[in-house]
Amino acid sequence: MSNLEQTLSIIKPDAVERNLSEEIKQVFKNNDFKILKEKKIKLEKHEAEKFYQVHQSKPFYNDLCTYLSSGAIVVMILEKENAVLDNRKLMGATDPLKAENGTLRKKYGVSIDKNSVHGSDSTENAKIEIDFFFKN
Ligand code: CMP
Repeated sequence: MSNLEQTLSIIKPDAVERNLSEEIKQVFKNNDFKILKEKKIKLEKHEAEKFYQVHQSKPFYNDLCTYLSSGAIVVMILEKENAVLDNRKLMGATDPLKAENGTLRKKYGVSIDKNSVHGSDSTENAKIEIDFFFKN
């Protein structure tokens, strides 16, 4: 049975800054993801805090929000069969040092904070995150 899904992807400031956006978008396309919508934006700190509110009790929350709002990001709606899980596989482990060979974070990530890409962790959060950036 088909399970066409959408997920939210962010190319984070470390990757945008190094001009890796086009290369990373090409990796998604090569792995059968369709980029349904995309935009390049810069968040205010309070917007990053809202986006990452699920992490607000974590010790790294403030630094995480400062970082995500530190430069331009590219946000995208990706679509394919099993998009949520397949995107997480393609990204690899959160910490680039632990990410598997061939994953985006292994190839491009520089640290657990500057790990180049974000992807929704569930279909439920994908809907919330897509609405956050693309609902008018
Ligand atoms: P992301 O998938 O965008 O979701 C939350 C982010 O918090 C994560 O990627 C990491 O970049 C960042 N982060 C920083 N420190 C940690 C940590 N100790 N554990 C998990 N995530 C962390």
